[in-house]
Amino acid sequence: MVFAALRNRRLARATGAAPAPAPVDGEVLLETVGLTKSYAGADGELPVLAGIDLKVRAGEIVALLGRSGSGKSTLLRCLAGLVPPSSGTVTYRGENLTGANPGTAMVFQTFALLPWLTVQQNVELGLEAKGMPADERAEAALQAIDLIGLDGFESAYPKELSGGMRQRVGFARALVVEPDVLMMDEPFSALDVLTAENLRGELMELWESGQFPTRAVVLVTHNIEEAVLMADRIVVLGSRPYGTIRETIEIGLDRPRDRNAPEFEELIDRVYRIMTGRPKETRTPSRTETPAAEKRSLANTPLPTATVDGLSGLAEIVAHRDGTADLADLADGLGLDVDDVLPLVDALDLLGLAEIHGDDLRLTDRGVSFAGADVQTSKRIFAEAARDLPLVRTILTSLRQSRDGTLRAGFFRDVLAHHYTSEQLTRQLDTATDWGRYAELYSYAAEPEEYRLDEQGLDVQGLGGPGLGGQV
Ligand SMILES: Nc1ncnc2c1ncn2[C@@H]1O[C@H](COP(=O)(O)OP(=O)(O)OP(=O)(O)O)[C@@H](O)[C@H]1O
Ligand SMILES: [Mg+2]
Repeated sequence: MVFAALRNRRLARATGAAPAPAPVDGEVLLETVGLTKSYAGADGELPVLAGIDLKVRAGEIVALLGRSGSGKSTLLRCLAGLVPPSSGTVTYRGENLTGANPGTAMVFQTFALLPWLTVQQNVELGLEAKGMPADERAEAALQAIDLIGLDGFESAYPKELSGGMRQRVGFARALVVEPDVLMMDEPFSALDVLTAENLRGELMELWESGQFPTRAVVLVTHNIEEAVLMADRIVVLGSRPYGTIRETIEIGLDRPRDRNAPEFEELIDRVYRIMTGRPKETRTPSRTETPAAEKRSLANTPLPTATVDGLSGLAEIVAHRDGTADLADLADGLGLDVDDVLPLVDALDLLGLAEIHGDDLRLTDRGVSFAGADVQTSKRIFAEAARDLPLVRTILTSLRQSRDGTLRAGFFRDVLAHHYTSEQLTRQLDTATDWGRYAELYSYAAEPEEYRLDEQGLDVQGLGGPGLGGQV
């Protein structure tokens, strides 16, 4: 790779460092041993990753696959040296990392371009930071721009570009420093389907032709097909209580890969099952990933992002299949992505309306009644199930203790801010609003953003507070 060798020499000259020998195929570039990561929360440390042992070798593309919140981005940031692990080690070519990893460059989902700089200036940023002289920077940037198909756009500003072209700038900016490992955090998920497909295809062609100026790629994705299409190895992260490596799958398929080949489809199915199933050792009894009812708290029991319509629909479909359905077949039959179905499954599980046994989703007795009942009865069943969930219960308890049975949404946002990011807490409140309304436990008025206790909510026994009697 002449391009790479030249650049290495230039960078070495610019930084005064001796050029490190280029990695040979199979050399371990990145390694984590016993990596754990927790973030400080109101209730103490919130574990996100635990016991991660991972190696990334020269010559391979590794996909980190997992559901939202499983810690994929956190693991990527630890590998890039952008956040320190809580314990365990991260090494790059055998050296312990103490700051930003010199061997990696990152491509973000949101492009992260500077709007006041041109394409070329954006691409040159990373080289400037390394102290490369201006003329060499320009030459290197133009090569990367050419490589990634941005020729002719050098002096355009990001706002003039389509999403696909902006992400090409993201790639050029990362590739221009010729990192040993290219890190990508859901790089295609903000793009429309065709643009994403096109860009993926071009990148894979570059990788296969040996023109790619990096020696390994770590790709974060929640898209199974993307992982099977691109990766040599898929590392599936589990979630709850915290992220561990659930399984590693070698993808031995020849490149370029044919999505229609039976082997491709078999692998998709296999990965799908790993994602939808529960870890083997905890398959029965089910619900081991959901904290036991008495141990549930606002922090450890987020509401899955599922509407009542969605989860009732799924319950009805499963009821029609005699109360049990293979999850992968079910999602496949409905033409849905795993990310669409799993929150609904989690919601049914959390509400005690269904349980997961191996790969199957089974309705409980309560779930069968819920699916088969008229509207009023299903509302009642749903209310009984939902009022025990921490967030719904918090809203109910607080409303009962308020002066007139109403409270502003801001109050609950403040309570939740101890446990969730602002985006997450909006999703939590949206879900709690939808569920509580359906159950007729409380209502919500968008103007003036206020919750109000319903009669049903007043009837719930066992909640704290004086009760509001006739005040509502
Ligand atoms: N800086 C932070 N402070 C506190 N908690 C955080 C921070 N960053 C992430 N978390 C929490 O860590 C968990 C894992 O987050 P992470 O972003 O790594 O997951 P992810 O798998 O990338 O999810 P997604 O698919 O939604 O991007 C989440 O519960 C998140 O709320
Ligand atoms: Mg992420």
